[in-house]
Amino acid sequence: MSNIYPHNQENILKAAEVIKSGGLVAFPTETVYGLGANVYDAHAVSKIFTAKQRPKFDPLISHIADVDILHSYAATDERVFALAERFWPGPLTFVLKRIDNNPALDLACSGLRTLTVRMPNHPIALDLIKSSGVPIVAPSANKYQSISPTTAQHVADGLGENVDMILDGGACKVGVESTIIDLTGKDVVMLRAGGTAKEDIEEFLNEKVFLSDGNPELPTAPGQLLRHYAPKNILRINVERADDDEYFIGFGDIEGNLNLSPSGNLNEAAANLFAYLRLADEHAANGKIAIAPIPQKGLGLAINDRIKRASYKK
Ligand code: TXA
Ligand code: MG
Repeated sequence: MSNIYPHNQENILKAAEVIKSGGLVAFPTETVYGLGANVYDAHAVSKIFTAKQRPKFDPLISHIADVDILHSYAATDERVFALAERFWPGPLTFVLKRIDNNPALDLACSGLRTLTVRMPNHPIALDLIKSSGVPIVAPSANKYQSISPTTAQHVADGLGENVDMILDGGACKVGVESTIIDLTGKDVVMLRAGGTAKEDIEEFLNEKVFLSDGNPELPTAPGQLLRHYAPKNILRINVERADDDEYFIGFGDIEGNLNLSPSGNLNEAAANLFAYLRLADEHAANGKIAIAPIPQKGLGLAINDRIKRASYKK
């Protein structure tokens, strides 16, 4: 029997009960589907790592529905609240210092002294968080190092019975994960390019946002593992002309078997990216996928980051 549930009030309340009783609920956000648990329930949080087959040193994002909780949840300052007011709800995640020693949070934070938080811009996610009455910790609802899910069916295909309920909210509009910025220091450091453009943050703060070069050997830095978002087939990037035996994902004027955005719109391309990688995986007859060059601006940073990792060969 399928564990995909249509989103109606009854099912959202039912999902909140699952969260409160220590179960796992997959739910839509504007970026990708998340695999949620009660942040204060260490046993429930540990089930996320098991379901995803994710190492426990990779910390999770807390999802909140009310900015005020931040006062008691993490170390904040004016900059944090200004950014929250401008960009939340939305695809921007903050790394903040922890303020309590609540051991229940240790697992979600992988024992780090920092805590990661965002307010998703999706009515079902917000409803679920409010009805649960706790922050919901949620990584993308896919197996570790595989392609993030942008539909309920993707979640079911990847995680199957390991999740108690999947709330169906249709396809995710943004399609790539949130941008993660570290706000624990004086400078703002972008740890993961994502659904909020770096340029928009810089314009709002009127200061430069630094890019972290990360340490791929030390995956407490977000999504910085070299191999991530991996399709099953070989992926070649920055390809102007594909070989005859390659399944080609185009962009703009470069046509292909699929085109991320014929008009060259990077937001549209981001929204299609993961679903097209899955389709390419299904249809690439020779085990080879190629993808056209994507401009390195706006959401292009997030797209290029994902496909670079997806193309990494062990
Ligand atoms: O859009 C998103 O952010 C989605 C939806 C479900 O909200 N979530 C998501 O979570 O992408 P996840 O777990 O797949 O990616 C979160 C990344 C991880 O790579 C993790 O290493 C990093 O955030 N992270 C979490 N806490 C951190 C911390 N305290 N310091 C540094 N990196 C952290
Ligand atoms: Mg993920």
